[in-house]
Amino acid sequence: MGFGRGKVILLGEHAVVHGCPAIAVGIERGVTAEAKPSERDLLLLSPWDLAVVPDPAGREPLERAFAAALALYPEHPSLEVSAQVDLPAGAGLGCSAAIGVAVLDAIDEALSIKRSRTSLANAATAWEKIFHGNPSGIDNAMSAVGGVALYRKGDALRPLRSNKPLHLVIGYSGEPSSTKEMVASVGRQLESDRERVTKAFEGIEVLVRNAKLAIEAGDHVALGQLLDLNHTILNSLMLCTTKLDDMCQAARQAGALGAKMTGSGGGGCMFALAPKREEAVRLREVLGEASFVAEVST
Ligand code: MEV
Repeated sequence: MGFGRGKVILLGEHAVVHGCPAIAVGIERGVTAEAKPSERDLLLLSPWDLAVVPDPAGREPLERAFAAALALYPEHPSLEVSAQVDLPAGAGLGCSAAIGVAVLDAIDEALSIKRSRTSLANAATAWEKIFHGNPSGIDNAMSAVGGVALYRKGDALRPLRSNKPLHLVIGYSGEPSSTKEMVASVGRQLESDRERVTKAFEGIEVLVRNAKLAIEAGDHVALGQLLDLNHTILNSLMLCTTKLDDMCQAARQAGALGAKMTGSGGGGCMFALAPKREEAVRLREVLGEASFVAEVST
């Protein structure tokens, strides 16, 4: 069975596209997939009831992405890949990357190809590029490898170690967001006001470096403050929505150590850092039915 997990970027999204480091965690929710020989190449996606035929010139990104994935196996027999998606799409949790990783993992298994999860993550870049044009690579890296890690474009993923698990509560605003559009919006801001946006990235980089130390030291109070500050900088880049901001505020008032939007923004998800498991369960009630708890050990 192929598997690609979802991810939550703790700090550093958007800046990571422009070469700054970011910290992310892999979560246990994700995408499972199975591939079997068939009469023709086909990708079935549930629960969406989608049947995708690969087409490098197709209108739908999934058609082009599936064609790009199959092109990585020039000699492959015809395959039917069935994927089960357990992540909201367009929500900042790395759904497209998780599908790509799961599909490639399933094809590897069907063709008895053995490789490391890092090599799988790199291969899934071909898939992710169809969806995002200019991905940093953090989504496919975390989807394949998981854990808690520091990522910088072009460098190997650096796992972070701590003796304290992170209790996260992920809340979904219900507002769809497009990573491609949000990344393009930051790119336009960088073009038109290089000084302001570069300063924002520099600020984010300092927060990421301090967060690495806070995670390693198990200092979640400091980590929470850094999350709040990162949220404010992302807000200054016009990436947050009123709904996401209200959810972060509600979580802080209910006892979260920190809260921030995650992923590309413009909708999608936020998350809160809870001091303990029991508090995470309580925060979940505050953040509504679509929210869920993720405990991440390093
Ligand atoms: C999307 O999950 C994170 C972004 O930083 C884009 C990327 O890193 O490719 C917004």
